[in-house]
Amino acid sequence: MWHDKAAAYHGSFAGLCAYPMPFLLDQADVGEGSRVLDVGCGTGSLSVLAVERGAIVSAVDAEPSMVAATQARVPEADVRAGTLPTLPYPDAWFDVVLGNFVINHVDHPAISVAELRRVTRPGGRIGISLWPRPAPPMQQLWDEVIQAAAVIAPDFPAVAGNFPQTVAGAAELLTAAGLVDVRSGLLEWQHRVDPEQWWSGAINGVAGIGFTVSQQDPPTVARMKAEYDRIAGQDLDGEGRLSRPTAAIVATATRRT
Ligand SMILES: C[S@@+](CC[C@H](N)C(=O)[O-])C[C@H]1O[C@@H](n2cnc3c(N)ncnc32)[C@H](O)[C@@H]1O
Repeated sequence: MWHDKAAAYHGSFAGLCAYPMPFLLDQADVGEGSRVLDVGCGTGSLSVLAVERGAIVSAVDAEPSMVAATQARVPEADVRAGTLPTLPYPDAWFDVVLGNFVINHVDHPAISVAELRRVTRPGGRIGISLWPRPAPPMQQLWDEVIQAAAVIAPDFPAVAGNFPQTVAGAAELLTAAGLVDVRSGLLEWQHRVDPEQWWSGAINGVAGIGFTVSQQDPPTVARMKAEYDRIAGQDLDGEGRLSRPTAAIVATATRRT
C-alpha cells in the first residue's frame, strides 16, 4: 500500500495524520536535546516538529520513497530504512520513541511495541497514535462511497496478532509490553480539506481506499468518483472544503527499567 507512495501520501492523507503530532510530542515530553526516534516516519512531518523543538532526531520507515522524502525534508535527522518489528538501533538508545499511525499497519503489534521499548532508555517515553475502530466520520466516507457505488472491496489480509483499536485496547497494548505510566485518550477534531486533495489519496493508491480503487476497472472508478462528489458535496464548509469530524487514539507510556 505504501510502495512509491510518498508524494501521493504527502499531498493527501498526511495532513490528517499531522493533527495529533504536537499533542503526541507534548505527551512524550519532547524538548531541547531529547534524543527522539520517529518510527514509520512517512514524509517526515513529525521529525520536522521534533527538530523545531530542539530534539536530536532519528527517523525510520519501511518504504524507500518515505525514507528519501524525510531525508530531503529533514536534513538534520538521521533517516534510515527499517521495518518493524525490527529496528536498526542498539538497545536503550533513545529518550523518546514515537510511532504516529504506524502501529495499526504492522503485523504483530505487540512484538513491535516490544521493539519500541527495546530501543527506549529506562525512564524514556514511548508514544503511539492510531485510528479508532469503528472509523470516525471522515474516514467512514470511503465506506459510504464503496457502498453507494456498489463496489466489492478486495479482501485485506487479516493483521496477525491484531488488538482492539480503542482507547482501552491501546492502553492494554502498552501495558502488556511492561510499560508504566500509561495514558491513552481520544483526540477529536474537525478535519477540513480540499475535496479534490482528499480524493487524490484514493485515486493515487494511498492506504486501504487507494488499494481498493486501484483494483477497479475505469467505469467503476468513475462511478466511485461520482458518488464521492455527491457525498462529499453534502459536507462542504463555507470555503468549499470537505469538513467532517475525525478522531485519533493517542497513547503514551514510560519504560521503567
Ligand atoms: C499512515 S503513514 C504515517 C506516516 C507518518 N508517521 C505520518 O504520521 O505522517 C504509515 C507509515 O508507516 C510506514 N510503515 C508501514 N509498515 C511499516 C513497518 N512495518 N515498519 C516501518 N514502517 C512502516 C509506511 O511506509 C508509512 O510511511
